[in-house]
Amino acid sequence: MAPSIQNLGWFYKNEGVQQPAMQSLFLTGLTLLGAYIFTIWFISYIRFLLSLYVLPGTQLRTFGSPSKTWAVITGASDGLGKEYALALSKAGYSTLLISRTASKLDAVANEIKQKFNTPTRTLAIDFALNRDDDYARLQDAITGLDISILINNVGVSHSIPVPFTETPEAEMETIVMVNCMATLRITRLIAPGMVDRKRGLIITMGSFGGLIPTPLLATYSGSKAFLQQWSTALGAELAQHNITVRLVQSYMITTAMSKIRVPTVFVPAPRPYVRSVLASIGRSGGAQGFMYSATPWWGHAWMQYVTNCFVGGHNWMLLRYNVWLHEGIRKRALKKRAERKKAQ
Ligand SMILES: NC(=O)c1ccc[n+]([C@@H]2O[C@H](COP(=O)([O-])OP(=O)(O)OC[C@H]3O[C@@H](n4cnc5c(N)ncnc54)[C@H](OP(=O)(O)O)[C@@H]3O)[C@@H](O)[C@H]2O)c1
Repeated sequence: MAPSIQNLGWFYKNEGVQQPAMQSLFLTGLTLLGAYIFTIWFISYIRFLLSLYVLPGTQLRTFGSPSKTWAVITGASDGLGKEYALALSKAGYSTLLISRTASKLDAVANEIKQKFNTPTRTLAIDFALNRDDDYARLQDAITGLDISILINNVGVSHSIPVPFTETPEAEMETIVMVNCMATLRITRLIAPGMVDRKRGLIITMGSFGGLIPTPLLATYSGSKAFLQQWSTALGAELAQHNITVRLVQSYMITTAMSKIRVPTVFVPAPRPYVRSVLASIGRSGGAQGFMYSATPWWGHAWMQYVTNCFVGGHNWMLLRYNVWLHEGIRKRALKKRAERKKAQ
């Protein structure tokens, strides 16, 4: 007979222990364990709420005076990068804008000049090519600049969800070169100056895809998992030099990458999203338990918190759901492609 609360007498008799004393010991142990688990959960819940809604973030000027220092933003010609560039210019920082298309960078630089009249420079580099010459041009461009903020924003994903076995090699290479290699090489050029000056902020755009393995976006998902680990390690290395490193964990935002146009609570527009990142430096938001990381947008933070509490990122149901979701997106995208081809 298996022991249960009702038939523990069988167990106690065999063990020669007094039944009431053992029973109350068992119940007390159970109660203490429950109280311990509840307290841990309650503390994490309160920390989550304080971090998301109450505690202020570190002021940007802590990392360097806006009127005297520079912010470098990659992928600055569109989407989130453009919003980072506008927000930091509005805060008074001089900006170095980097991305692939010179004409788009010029348009953003003109907008900054017109709206905020802060110094701004542009540098067109195709990071997918991983050319030493381009990084030498970047080195020249930053020489002599007091860079207090680096936004490692540039990132690319698969053009449509695709099984790994069918992923074009060029797409795989582009994702790794842009998301991983460019982030490493740019940070390697800029971080030493921050170390010398003993101040700085390095923000890197991660993704929920780096936390929750995402089938049919496997290479992108892996590249963001790489950034999660790299950035966390970097955060621990640079903390002693008074440099703040943050990996921003994010679900979708209405940009060209997500192909979603209408913002919702869970898929915000780039402007409020970037505002939430810059207003909460030093707070982890939904990224409770992740060192040097943050999930600042409240809709994303709740998604992450609830998933972590009740399901967990590596849950098989979540993985199956993700397969089903991305297979559906792929089917619709292929259908659209075929229709477009027919219409031509
Ligand atoms: N949007 C989302 O739902 C979402 C969710 C989670 C995480 N993220 C992350 O957030 C970051 C920004 O994403 P986003 O949605 O703003 O992307 P986006 O709207 O597609 O903009 C991408 C930016 O990167 C530049 N870029 C692309 N390929 C490049 C290359 N080979 N060399 C140099 N620059 C290149 C683009 O420049 P051009 O204009 O010249 O092409 C553009 O400025 C990415 O790291 C992304 O992974 C986004």
